[in-house]
Amino acid sequence: MSLRGKKIVLAVTGSIAAYKAAFLTRLLVKQGAEVQVLMTADAEKFISPLTLATLSKKKVISALTDAEQWSDHVSLGLWADLMLVAPATANTLAKFAVGICDNIVTAVYLSAKCPVFFAPAMDLDMWKHPSTQHNIKRLVSFGNRMIPVGHGELASGLVGDGRMAEPEDIVRLLDNHFAEGNQFKGKTALVTAGPTYEPIDPVRFIGNYSSGKMGIALATGLANRGAKVNLVIGPSRISIPDHPNIKVFKVTTAQQMYDKAVQLYPECDVAIMAAAVADYRPKQEAAEKIKKSASDMTLELEKTPDIAAGLGKMKQSHQLNIGFALETNDEEANAKAKLVKKNFDFIVLNSLQDPGAGFNHDTNKITILKKDNTQKNFELKSKTEVAADIIDEIAGMLFPGNGNHN
Ligand code: PMT
Repeated sequence: MSLRGKKIVLAVTGSIAAYKAAFLTRLLVKQGAEVQVLMTADAEKFISPLTLATLSKKKVISALTDAEQWSDHVSLGLWADLMLVAPATANTLAKFAVGICDNIVTAVYLSAKCPVFFAPAMDLDMWKHPSTQHNIKRLVSFGNRMIPVGHGELASGLVGDGRMAEPEDIVRLLDNHFAEGNQFKGKTALVTAGPTYEPIDPVRFIGNYSSGKMGIALATGLANRGAKVNLVIGPSRISIPDHPNIKVFKVTTAQQMYDKAVQLYPECDVAIMAAAVADYRPKQEAAEKIKKSASDMTLELEKTPDIAAGLGKMKQSHQLNIGFALETNDEEANAKAKLVKKNFDFIVLNSLQDPGAGFNHDTNKITILKKDNTQKNFELKSKTEVAADIIDEIAGMLFPGNGNHN
């Protein structure tokens, strides 16, 4: 019963699935949540505000202003512990994705400081359209949570994906969210992410294809479960959610990442090394741009410090160190060697042999390898879901016997 006393803004938009908002409101109130319903003008064509006001025991807000007063969307955005948009139409999702603010729902969305969950509902063709899928990806990349659609008969008579999730499933998901929100409370995590750039001269560097997505997904997942997260990230173009539990340290080189990680490590309970760190750097950085000459050129390289190995040496008994292995061949043998050499508690293997895995994809396919020679293989999933699997594994080790997902 993690919903007891939670303040939930339920935003209802114009879809035939709006009738499910009545069940949703009733279930949320029954679980002890305080529910403030918002409706768009189109939603009111599908279900009466009176129904939702009666079930939520609160006046429904449908406009930014009415004859008597202005609805303070900013305070509503601050008041809520969670905003749930259900049903969320393709139109509202598109507005959220680009920041259009033309009704009470979009205004509260833009002011919300709390987690936002949305449960899409639309016809199959609208659901499958690249515009809708692009908008959803964008919203998820902002840190919003998408509640998967169901499969079945749709209002048009078509059969396929696009049905709004069932109210019972949504309430269960929110309940888990609040329960998880405290799982790592009091714990501090260090996450390294992204590539490193090792300068050759003022205009060139040695780098790699890491986007930072995997590390950001881990930092976000841990923060959502209540951990205080220090995210040390190399040059990445991916936006990092503005999360109160995440502190971001931007670095460029392996040396800078090493120095920051070593400084932050002693206060950490868990360190996850998801960064793709350069193993070598130019021995000398040229002060000026190297000019092309008639002959070939040789670059002398020296080793960079190994962050994971360094933290492995500093590790105390209460700390867990998790590493990644990005392999192209002899995957398991190479990952197992790194697991031991760098003193990891477990290592996450991802291979460039697997389509959709590794650098820059929104998905990854991993195997978790432990020192006792046990291993867990996972399917190709979104990096958010992969992060959840890794965090579940960590939770099982940090809080044994607590009924975690292991
Ligand atoms: O950022 P994305 O685009 O989402 O891609 C994700 C990823 C592919 C980068 C990620 O999933 C991943 O595999 N990260 C580790 C990549 C890597 O450098 O692996 P490795 O096998 O070379 O290194 C082994 C471990 O040692 C890693 O935990 C690495 O962070 C760490 N290491 C390596 C070298 C070094 N100098 N310091 C380190 O800490």
